[in-house]
Amino acid sequence: MSDKRDLHPPTEVLTRGFDPSLSVGSARPAVFRSSTYVFSSPESAERAFDIASGRAQALPGERPDLIYSRLNHPNAEILEDQLVPLEKYAAAALVFNSGMAAIMTALLTFTAPGETVLYTLPIYGGTQHFLQDFLSQWGVRSFGIPAGRTAAIAEAIRTTPSLALVLIETPANPTLVMTDIAGAVSAARERSPKPPLVVVDNTLMGPAFQHPLALGADLCLYSATKYLSGFSDMIGGAAIASDAALIQAMRARRVMFGNILQPDECWILDGRLPTVGLRMNRSSKNAVRMADELARHAQVKHVYYPTLFTDAEQKRIYHAQCDYPGGMLSMELHGGKPAAFEFLRHIQIARDAVSLGGVETLACHPKTTTHSGFSEEESRQAGVTDGLVRLSIGIEDWRDLLADFLRALDLTHAKLSRQEVGAAD
Ligand SMILES: Cc1ncc(COP(=O)(O)O)c(C=O)c1O
Repeated sequence: MSDKRDLHPPTEVLTRGFDPSLSVGSARPAVFRSSTYVFSSPESAERAFDIASGRAQALPGERPDLIYSRLNHPNAEILEDQLVPLEKYAAAALVFNSGMAAIMTALLTFTAPGETVLYTLPIYGGTQHFLQDFLSQWGVRSFGIPAGRTAAIAEAIRTTPSLALVLIETPANPTLVMTDIAGAVSAARERSPKPPLVVVDNTLMGPAFQHPLALGADLCLYSATKYLSGFSDMIGGAAIASDAALIQAMRARRVMFGNILQPDECWILDGRLPTVGLRMNRSSKNAVRMADELARHAQVKHVYYPTLFTDAEQKRIYHAQCDYPGGMLSMELHGGKPAAFEFLRHIQIARDAVSLGGVETLACHPKTTTHSGFSEEESRQAGVTDGLVRLSIGIEDWRDLLADFLRALDLTHAKLSRQEVGAAD
C-alpha cells in the first residue's frame, strides 16, 4: 500500500504492504491458506511463470498472478513488505520457516565449492554445525575467528583466499562480546574484484537496537522465533537486504528448498511486528535496572551486559552500533555448575528454558544445554564456563524479577556456604 519512505518505522509497519480491498475490506490481514491460486487468464499464468522463473522482470507497479504457495503467498508478501521498514536502508525481505532455514539458504545461495566463509566465534551452534559438518562436505571451507577482535577480523577478511562471505553474529551469545560490523564491511570492501558479502545474524539486538544494513552490511538475518515474534510460540526466520537482487537470488533457492514460512505463521508474525520495538524497549529497560544490583551480589562473580563493559574496544563498538543495551544478560556465579544449577532450581518467575526474546523471562545454563556441543577449548575461548547462567529478560515488572533473582542467589549462597562449612568440619 503506502511505500512512502518518509514515514517512521512504527507507522510504516502498520500501513505498508496490506491492501484491505484485496481482503474483502478486512482492516487487518486475513489468512490465505490456499496451496494454489487461480489465474486470471492463461496469458497471466504464462507471464507469472516467466517472472517467477527469472525469464522476465516484473514491470514497475505490475502485480503478477500468484502461482503456488511454496513459491509465494499473500501472507508472506504482506509480512515481507512490513519487515522492510524495520531495518534502515532495507529494500526487500524474505521469510523462512526457521532462523536456521534463513541462515542455511543464505549460505547455500552465496557460496560455491572452493570458496571460504569466515565467521565470528562463538556463533549459534546450529550455524556452526551447518558450516563445519555439512557445508564442508560440499567443498565450502569455513573458519571461525574470535568475536570482538576488530584488527584480527579485518586482517582475516583482507587476506583469506577465495573469501565469499563473512558471517557475523553480534553480540555473541552468551557473553555478549560485540563485533564491529562497520569495520568488517570496510575490510571487505577493500577486496576486489569481488568483495565478500558481509552477513549479520541480528537476532539478539534487532530490529530495535542494531541496524546492520545502515552500517554497510549486505544481508541481515533473523531467527524470528525470538524478539520478532516475541511470545515463544512459533518458529520462523527472515532475511533483509538493501540490494533487492540478493533477496531475489535467495528467493529462487527458497522455491527449490520449500522453506517458505507458512501462511498461519506469517499471519501470527505479522501481528507481532508493530509491538517489537515496545517489547524490546521494555525488556532492555528491565535488564538495565537489574544489571548493577545483580553484579553486587556476593554469589555473582561477573555480569556480562553492555552497560557494564570495561574493555575500551567493546565500549566503543557498543556505543557506535547499538542504540540500547538490550534484554540479554549473563551472570558468572561463584561455585561453578552446582551454583548455576542451584540458582536455576530456585527461580520462580523466570523459567529454566533455552531460547530468548520472549515476553517471559527465561534462564538457562549454556554449558550443559545450548553450548553443550562445544569442546572444552571452544568453551574456554567463548567464555562458556560451568558457573555461567544466561538470562533473556522479559517484560514483567523488573522489581518482581529482581526480587526473584536475588532470592534465588541468596538461597544458592546459603546452600554453598553450608556445604563449604560441612566440608571444612
Ligand atoms: C542467534 C541465533 N541465530 C539463529 C538461531 C536459529 O533460529 P531458529 O531456532 O529459529 O531456527 C538461533 C536460535 O536459537 C539463534 O539464537
